[in-house]
Amino acid sequence: MGHESTGREIRLAARPSGEPRESDFELVEVPVPEPQDGEVLVRNTWMSLDPAMRIRMHEGGSYMPAFEVGRPLDGAVVGEVVDSRAPGFAAGDSVIHRLGWREYALLDANAPPRDRPAQIDVGDSTSARAYLGPLGVTGLTAYAGLIDVAEMREGDVVFISAAAGAVGSLAVQIAKLRGHTVIGSAGSAEKCRFVAEELGADATFCYRDGDVGQLLAAAAPDGIDLYFDNVGGDHLEAALDSLRGGGRVALCGAIGDYNATEPVKGPSNLFHAVAKGLTLRGFLARYYVHRMDEFRTEMRGWLREDRIVYRETVADGLERAPRAFIGMLRGENTGKTLVKLR
Ligand SMILES: NC(=O)c1ccc[n+]([C@@H]2O[C@H](COP(=O)([O-])OP(=O)(O)OC[C@H]3O[C@@H](n4cnc5c(N)ncnc54)[C@H](OP(=O)(O)O)[C@@H]3O)[C@@H](O)[C@H]2O)c1
Repeated sequence: MGHESTGREIRLAARPSGEPRESDFELVEVPVPEPQDGEVLVRNTWMSLDPAMRIRMHEGGSYMPAFEVGRPLDGAVVGEVVDSRAPGFAAGDSVIHRLGWREYALLDANAPPRDRPAQIDVGDSTSARAYLGPLGVTGLTAYAGLIDVAEMREGDVVFISAAAGAVGSLAVQIAKLRGHTVIGSAGSAEKCRFVAEELGADATFCYRDGDVGQLLAAAAPDGIDLYFDNVGGDHLEAALDSLRGGGRVALCGAIGDYNATEPVKGPSNLFHAVAKGLTLRGFLARYYVHRMDEFRTEMRGWLREDRIVYRETVADGLERAPRAFIGMLRGENTGKTLVKLR
């Protein structure tokens, strides 16, 4: 299978302060390398945009190393092998790996598992990009967050923030499939309609309409038992007020903080955790990779039976990735944000 002699990549041009700007990114044309022994050359086809990439733009990064200024960004991506000098990989194979933000990626097939390409099973009913969404880390985050981290129990009233987003929209549906009452919050009336009418949430509110605590109390007058936290800040504070005794929180993300330029204050009402015997547990999806097979089997079944609505917001072409990334942080996406690479 042939390939071009050059491809494009996006580098971090400057560390953003507050909301990223397009000038913080640089699109560069680079030669496509030839694979050496043990290496695989992949033409990337779809890449994921993830809020955590914003954390990696800060000096020092976080649980993942910081992106370096002048170097290409990276992140989850799927593609097709175009040249291989590694056993187990052949031209035409569909793979998932971590070298996104570029059109071609050269990978060492013998690297540690996180850094090497992994084969994915793509067929008539399963697209490669589904492995960036419902069948990948996005889906596992929602699944493990509810079931393993927050130990979702029969009768739980479940609150999910950023409910129209990639993880949130799957979490809403998984909780509904398990028979729970679900409250979802999102940033617009249109998104709330999507969460209620298409995803099946029992109640929703737009957090921009007023005080989050009051909005949640109105949507869940008898309180909640489980909070799936994608936002942090005011949403976590509201949930702590509404949680009933023995309630549980899966701390999945804090997108409300990622663009912050000042240190973020903690919730003012954390004492509720003491008084109500709450459990707040943070997690990364990677702590639950051992659940991936079981999760995929269940998710494939739901997808086959059309029991999961899966929305995507797609940017066409690598050059549009920075704008799409900024848009996702602002809430311009519904469902999973992807970039289609040409
Ligand atoms: N723990 C893990 O392993 C793991 C894995 C994946 C993702 N995550 C976390 O899960 C969360 C969702 O990620 P995702 O990939 O599914 O992204 P997403 O929800 O598809 O996109 C981000 C959404 O966040 C909302 N948002 C932005 N600023 C906000 C604010 N100040 N207050 C409330 N909502 C805000 C926006 O929706 P609105 O229009 O509704 O504001 C936006 O659409 C993030 O916190 C992410 O870091 C964690």
